[in-house]
Amino acid sequence: MVIGFDSLSRYQEKNPYFGAIIGRYGNRIGKATFKIDTATYHLAANDGENTLHGGLKGFDKVVWDAFPNDSTGTLTLKYVSKDGEEGYPGNLSVTVVYTFTDDNELLIDYTAETDKPTVLNLTNHSYFNLTGDVNNTILDHTLQINADKYTPVDATLITTGELKDVKGTAFDFLQPHKIGERINDVTGGYDHNFVLNRKSDMPEPVATLADSVSGRVLEVYTTEPGMQFYTGNFLDGTNKLSDGKPINIHTALCLETQHFPDSPNKPEFPTTLLKPGERFHSQTKYKISIK
Ligand code: BGC
Repeated sequence: MVIGFDSLSRYQEKNPYFGAIIGRYGNRIGKATFKIDTATYHLAANDGENTLHGGLKGFDKVVWDAFPNDSTGTLTLKYVSKDGEEGYPGNLSVTVVYTFTDDNELLIDYTAETDKPTVLNLTNHSYFNLTGDVNNTILDHTLQINADKYTPVDATLITTGELKDVKGTAFDFLQPHKIGERINDVTGGYDHNFVLNRKSDMPEPVATLADSVSGRVLEVYTTEPGMQFYTGNFLDGTNKLSDGKPINIHTALCLETQHFPDSPNKPEFPTTLLKPGERFHSQTKYKISIK
């Protein structure tokens, strides 16, 4: 149900972040620049004039120390991103723990600490197709998202700063809708951050994806304020599964729990600033069931 390869070398080929941990900053930072206090930081412009998913060598392309534990069903991954790496300030120590629970959930727990003020936005970039077959698109999947608002973007996919009501638009997924039903009303397809209706600090249910043919259901829980819903608009068949099947447009989708794109330049958005002495903590759960 997720797009993936059967060997490490295939992941080392150019691919659009299949299954990867994204950092130091998931999604985009406008004009590849941000400020903390009076200091301006310049990042690699790897998406037009903007920076995307951490820059040229983001957390998806670095080697993490891995600590599998079969008795607890966990995999702990650790990485220290050096001060100045990809232009970001501060030595940032990141730990990501994957746990398979007895409730058919994959829990992803992220913690991080820094020795200088920095920005971060960590997410998981898995691509789902609940039919398990990329010969089918995801346009017939139904999706429900607990979000009254979303963050509109400009032509370069940078948030405008506005939080827009989903009511009466193709972004209203408060009730379940087929993804293909209104996708043509959205230029380029869905690639937008939703402002999640959340009330507590605990992981809360924010989205439900379902495929009525297989009966498979994927529920997303998170502590994050946002979620990028991306319908694989840039998948173009270049990448192929191990059996040779091309991964074409709209054959997989991402539900990336996160802070809002370009938050470092949008003081009105929930902050992505992390200071020395603070501990970043975030959790996301993907729960699978059959209906
Ligand atoms: C972004 C897309 C981008 C994709 C990378 C998503 O998180 O929102 O714009 O193309 O990642 O493949």
